[in-house]
Amino acid sequence: MRPRNKKHLEERFEKCSSIVVADPAIMKGNWRSAFLSVEEEKKPLHLEIGCGKGAFVTGMAQKNPEVSFVAMECVKNVIVTAMEKVVAADYKNIIFINNNADFLCEYFAEGEVDRIYLNFSDPWPRNKHAKYRLTYKTYLEKYAKILAPGGCIVQKTDNRGLFDFSVESFTENGWRLENVSYNLHSDETPAEILSANVITEYENRFMELGQPIHRLEAFPPVKL
Ligand SMILES: C[S@@+](CC[C@H](N)C(=O)[O-])C[C@H]1O[C@@H](n2cnc3c(N)ncnc32)[C@H](O)[C@@H]1O
Repeated sequence: MRPRNKKHLEERFEKCSSIVVADPAIMKGNWRSAFLSVEEEKKPLHLEIGCGKGAFVTGMAQKNPEVSFVAMECVKNVIVTAMEKVVAADYKNIIFINNNADFLCEYFAEGEVDRIYLNFSDPWPRNKHAKYRLTYKTYLEKYAKILAPGGCIVQKTDNRGLFDFSVESFTENGWRLENVSYNLHSDETPAEILSANVITEYENRFMELGQPIHRLEAFPPVKL
């Protein structure tokens, strides 16, 4: 069942229109210029796919003012809350795309993005829906194209099925994995990973339920 549109959704969205790119394709190759100052153009560009209500991207933006963030979310009802947080706190280093990851290569030029975050992506548990998982091989091809040399994906999920599928998909498609953890919030996790971590809405929910969080970093095959 589709969620009911939030009250006044269009007006709320319109009020935040300065921080959403209505036609992301025209920004291809120029995302850094979407941020306000010339200085920002030299900053690393990080992309979160499926940003939800924005707890992660706003936390990251606050913690990492030296990074410019693009937050993508396909559901308008959800992204509007994230956008309102950014407007209220006046973060200058976040911009939004209200669209689907299927179009990544239309939106970003080759090597334009330094890091991609996949946080608690929908697991699509049925095998016949595997192609919708954000770590399915067709998505990995898109990520490999838009990632800069040395760039990587950071994935977190509570879902062991999705995590195992992702490890296999990355490996089968020639990606190199680092810092694979089946329990991020444990004593075994290196301190620098824990201190850099920002807890997402879903992560918080699953932590409260006592469920372990899985995390990995994935580097694409080197382009020859
Ligand atoms: C389970 S929620 C997790 C939200 C947030 N990342 C968190 O960790 O709290 C997954 C989000 O990804 C969005 N999403 C799923 N598939 C997407 C796609 N192909 N492109 C953009 N957003 C997507 C959904 O609309 C949803 O808001």
